[in-house]
Amino acid sequence: MKKFIASVMFALSATLMATTVMASGGVELEHANVDIHNKDSLQRGVKYYVNYCMGCHSLNYSRYNRIANDLGLTDEQAAKNLIFTRDDNGDLHKTGALMKNGMSQKQSAEWFGAPPPDLTLVGRSRGPDWIYSYLKAFYVDPTRPMGVNNTVFPNVGMPHVLWELQGLQEKHCTKEGEGEHAVEHCELKTVKAGSMTPAEYDQTARDLTNFLAYVGEPAALNRTTYGVFTLLFLGLFAIIAYFLKKEYWKDVH
Ligand code: HEC
Repeated sequence: MKKFIASVMFALSATLMATTVMASGGVELEHANVDIHNKDSLQRGVKYYVNYCMGCHSLNYSRYNRIANDLGLTDEQAAKNLIFTRDDNGDLHKTGALMKNGMSQKQSAEWFGAPPPDLTLVGRSRGPDWIYSYLKAFYVDPTRPMGVNNTVFPNVGMPHVLWELQGLQEKHCTKEGEGEHAVEHCELKTVKAGSMTPAEYDQTARDLTNFLAYVGEPAALNRTTYGVFTLLFLGLFAIIAYFLKKEYWKDVH
């Protein structure tokens, strides 16, 4: 029986590992180590997002003022720093608006080969480690329409929009072993430095990832607090219930 359980566990974990690796183009993902309670990181993340991503990727299920509120920004700060998108009349969006952009899905599909998807839920569908690794995995590939490829998302349609910050990387592969048993080992090497150091760029990728993780489930910010209060209430209620029970049964026993 023990053996059976062990082999089932083994099969399960092997499948799990295989799906994780498959979902990432066969490369191992780096840990993003995000913390959605770090407001400074979220504030930097949303700033990068509206400056570098919002032009192509909407956040259709999120409103500016919800984010401003959660991140401790006033409506005025939000209007000044976050809102660059316009409504149908050409006016800047109000703070209560959904974070849509003017990008036409059909046109962008022609430009990039695939339309840029809405990213409200990408923190949940792909997970933080995937996003973080993806933002660090662009490399120069002249055979691709945008001049870049990505080890985590092979043949991606998205250009490397953060290249000025990160610089450019090239993929170098070496083969170990002969014939069928040859194992290819690839590495990304910086060939042109960006305006940020590698550590600063990692932090930028982490802040963006953190923001996308938060936006996928804003309620997670409060959920843990509710949990603690719920347990405290249940604890207190158990004491009251105990004394009540004693009171009710005191004449019976
Ligand atoms: C010039 C337009 C453009 C900009 C700007 C842009 N992207 Fe993209 N992005 C795309 C396109 C197009 C795809 C779809 C690629 C495909 O399916 O081949 C994509 C895909 C993605 C995906 C994968 C989504 C999925 O689940 O398949 C993520 C994550 C992403 N982008 C994040 C970002 C972030 C973060 C930024 C800002 C730093 C950004 N993008 C800026 C065009 C853009």
